[in-house]
Amino acid sequence: MPDLRGTTITWLGHATVLVQSAAGTGVLIDPFIEHSPTYPKDFKLPGKLDLVLVTHGHFDHIADAIPVAAKHHAKVVSIVEITDFLEKKGVKNTQGMNYGGSFKHADVTITMVEAKHSSSIQDGENVLYGGNPAGFILHIENGPTLYHAGDTSVFSDMKLIAELYAPELGMLPIGDNYTMGPKAAALAAKYLLLKTVLPIHYGTFPVLTGTPAELTALLEGSSIEVLQMKPGESV
Ligand code: NI
Ligand code: MN
Repeated sequence: MPDLRGTTITWLGHATVLVQSAAGTGVLIDPFIEHSPTYPKDFKLPGKLDLVLVTHGHFDHIADAIPVAAKHHAKVVSIVEITDFLEKKGVKNTQGMNYGGSFKHADVTITMVEAKHSSSIQDGENVLYGGNPAGFILHIENGPTLYHAGDTSVFSDMKLIAELYAPELGMLPIGDNYTMGPKAAALAAKYLLLKTVLPIHYGTFPVLTGTPAELTALLEGSSIEVLQMKPGESV
């Protein structure tokens, strides 16, 4: 098990992850709740959420951002094109960012990094430009530095992410088809110099075939630990 110095990470199925720092800051990433086949329906989010991070505009990442932000009075953090869209939909508290930029909230510093994917927003019948897709670094004071990759393939500039931010735990998509699969995720974990991988974005739909067992087998002989969690479980 990773030593997270009081930070708790709860995987909520798909790319949805709740991070709670020792000091009590609550961050929910890519809320996909109501229509997610794997969200643990009996799970109760904490009453207080500080930040909702949205990696890109696809439905399985942005779906519940508006209701969750409203209910929990959270600030929504995303690329500027998405926060502009959310503001037009009535979200008042937003932080628009772009690649390389950082933003500090209490004991958590959020940095937006690139992701190799696409991004658009389905708004009723219309498909809107969603800016570029992103990943996030979460640097927690007196705690760990975490990386949520969003939806991405592997890219060699993950070495830059390691050099600049040194995340110890990475939440990496492994499901294949829309993102990297286990083979590329194993290389990503090595480029990122991770200690621990929390596999995400697999098993939600039949097309997302990659498994943590495959990733574990591919990383055998390395020092990188792969967490095998069920939706709703925490480390
Ligand atoms: Ni996507
Ligand atoms: Mn996705």
